[in-house]
Amino acid sequence: MRRTKIKELIAQGEIGSKVNVKGWVRTFRNNQFIAINDGSTINNIQAVVDFQNTDENLLKRITTGAAISVDGEIHESMGKGQRIEIKAESIEILGDADPEEYPLQPKKHSLEFLREKAHLRPRTNTISAVMRVRHHLAYGIHKFFNDKGFAYMHTPVITASDAEGAGETFRVTTMDLDNPARTEEGKLDFSKDFFAKETNLTVSGQLEAEVGAMSLGEVYTFGPTFRAENSNTTRHLAEFWMIEPEMAFYNLKDNMDLVEEMLKYLINYAMEHCADDLAFLDQRYAQEQKSKPQAERSELGLLDRLKFVVENEFERLTYSEAIDVLLNSKMHKKKKFKYTVEWGIDLQSEHERYLVEKEYKKPVILTDYPKDIKAFYMKQNEDGKTVGAMDVLFPGIGEIVGGSERETDYDKLVQRMVEMDVPQEDLWWYLELRKFGTAPHSGFGLGFERLILFVTGMGNIRDVIPFPRFPQSAEF
Ligand code: 4AD
Ligand code: MG
Repeated sequence: MRRTKIKELIAQGEIGSKVNVKGWVRTFRNNQFIAINDGSTINNIQAVVDFQNTDENLLKRITTGAAISVDGEIHESMGKGQRIEIKAESIEILGDADPEEYPLQPKKHSLEFLREKAHLRPRTNTISAVMRVRHHLAYGIHKFFNDKGFAYMHTPVITASDAEGAGETFRVTTMDLDNPARTEEGKLDFSKDFFAKETNLTVSGQLEAEVGAMSLGEVYTFGPTFRAENSNTTRHLAEFWMIEPEMAFYNLKDNMDLVEEMLKYLINYAMEHCADDLAFLDQRYAQEQKSKPQAERSELGLLDRLKFVVENEFERLTYSEAIDVLLNSKMHKKKKFKYTVEWGIDLQSEHERYLVEKEYKKPVILTDYPKDIKAFYMKQNEDGKTVGAMDVLFPGIGEIVGGSERETDYDKLVQRMVEMDVPQEDLWWYLELRKFGTAPHSGFGLGFERLILFVTGMGNIRDVIPFPRFPQSAEF
């Protein structure tokens, strides 16, 4: 018999028809009721076993985690919250899961515990819901840009440059580390390495995406990026996915309009395509809020927060205006911020969260940051102090997007590279874009996992990527 996926079965299964389902046992109650999940949906299907006429050895092997195949007939269910169930006619164990050893039991496991079981955790409701939302958001991103006529550009993972100039790269080498080639001065000799130069994993596909913008017009990247920043936070990964659109003939205002449209589209897309999973995550979020101290609780539920973001305009203001707002806040006056506020600081997440959660109570786009806290490629403003940068700040997350208009003037760009110690020889091709047919252009980078955090209401970025990479951890 052809297998029917549980999602399809629950939506369309007709009473009286014969079906086959395959999946993993979630629970087996009273030797009679098997809850089966196959990953196609958060919902289980119940199979009812005629235990008096079933071999005892088989019954013993129906344990949490076992993979099974069930043939049977669809009946109306008396159970609460389920339309149908399967009256099992034959059951086959495809793969046993010894209950003495199988780590996932039908009870609530902590997310910390599950992180150590990354190979099994997608079999839980929470992680499977997050992974399905992740899939739909990825698909939605491609749809959004495809519908707008952007080309999906594949930028390299191995590069010879540090796009952000922050020195947080992972080196790539095939050198024998026990006995590396050395120059006469005793330094590592990269001319003998695989690429005959020093290379690293990319921190951003932006610089190559600019090549795309200056030829195809409107492009976006969507790939893994790597940062060796030693940030043990709930918002940082060493390997994360980034979406980086780059557009010719866009100024900063066009860039802001695009990012706002994109974020609203994606949140709507998730609400439309992940209704069951988000309903589950909404409940989970509500539970979690209850266990937090009053002051830290979110005023809105998860779904209400998503609706709020898509229905309201983002607040737009400059960095300098934001500093004034912070300086005039009670938090500053009562010295409640941990980090001092003054023009020129890199905003800390406590400042970002104050602006978003207390002052404006909605997403905020901050523009025109001091040039000294931003990357070398940003367009320098007339004032000589700021650049045409934009960061999008979200409730509960802080920075979710960073972007800018790009410097297109060859001399100004070179001067900034010199000031910021960015090696010109690695980026000769990037500089040539300013020599041959330079044109205004802008772009931004959306941290994919930060978007998933926001949409799912999860608290830790390590729980929204299948195999998280962070300091001291690359087990899986
Ligand atoms: O602000 P960032 O560093 O900007 C860039 O990389 C630019 N090249 C983007 C561009 O203009 N094309 O990173 C962009 C976003 C951040 O806003 C954040 O959401 C995410 O990437 N991000 C991280 N996410 C998870 N873990 C990390 N370690 C991250 N670092 C940045
Ligand atoms: Mg940034």
